[in-house]
Amino acid sequence: MLAEAIKYAAARLLGQGDPHGHLAQQVALWARHRRRRAAWEPHLSRCRALTLAAAKACPPEARRTALVMGSGLLLEVPLEELSALFQRVVLADMAFVPEVRARAARQGNVELRETDLTGCLDRLSGGLPRPLPDALAQLGAGLPGLDFAYSANLLSQLPLFALGKAVRLEAAAALVRQHLDGLKALGVPACLVTDVAERGLRQGLVEYEADLLFGVDPGLSGETWTWSMAPDGEAVRGLDVERTVLGVADVRNV
Ligand SMILES: C[S@@+](CC[C@H](N)C(=O)[O-])C[C@H]1O[C@@H](n2cnc3c(N)ncnc32)[C@H](O)[C@@H]1O
Repeated sequence: MLAEAIKYAAARLLGQGDPHGHLAQQVALWARHRRRRAAWEPHLSRCRALTLAAAKACPPEARRTALVMGSGLLLEVPLEELSALFQRVVLADMAFVPEVRARAARQGNVELRETDLTGCLDRLSGGLPRPLPDALAQLGAGLPGLDFAYSANLLSQLPLFALGKAVRLEAAAALVRQHLDGLKALGVPACLVTDVAERGLRQGLVEYEADLLFGVDPGLSGETWTWSMAPDGEAVRGLDVERTVLGVADVRNV
């Protein structure tokens, strides 16, 4: 807890705002990763390998700008490799901890965009704005030479901050659809990693199962794997919590 408080305070002291709680969530993620490093590694390396293979499929003449959405702590992002492959890499998230800022700066061609990828977190008053803003189109329009996009395990997270503001479940599904549609509409190869379901197991028997995409079927084919997210009762007493993750090399190929 102390290490988390220090980490959070350091980011705030260096000017990182936290209007909707994303920084706090990243710090919690950092702490859990520290505790569960070994259990997480198969999932993290699989994300990085999938993304790298998808990025390498871009022809050499189409390696100008790569966009990473939900870059977070860069655990699921092969940053150095993307930086070597593309002229420019843009990381988009609501918050950046100092270590991520420093790692990005070391590459020399990585830019940070502090942005709300739903486009509506500041405009929720009991419901979503209608029509929903086209947040990804706006972001993409500001990135000339965009040749590759990676949605880095943020899809299931997008509605959570909005749900905290009394947005209903149908609205959560709308935010999931907004992101999937926005990815497809970017018009470039777009790699997607997302957790889709969570299970709690007691001695190997499923005690609960939850749909993390609020009833939305992404309708995409790709690889799936299990992420041992919170084993040994770490998140829920007595349960091993695991997630099913979907990885899609390019959402435009159904
Ligand atoms: C599960 S974490 C992803 C971890 C990250 N891919 C990594 O490699 O460390 C989800 C990320 O999505 C970001 N996020 C959630 N909602 C967002 C929003 N509306 N706009 C931008 N980023 C958002 C969070 O700040 C967080 O970094």
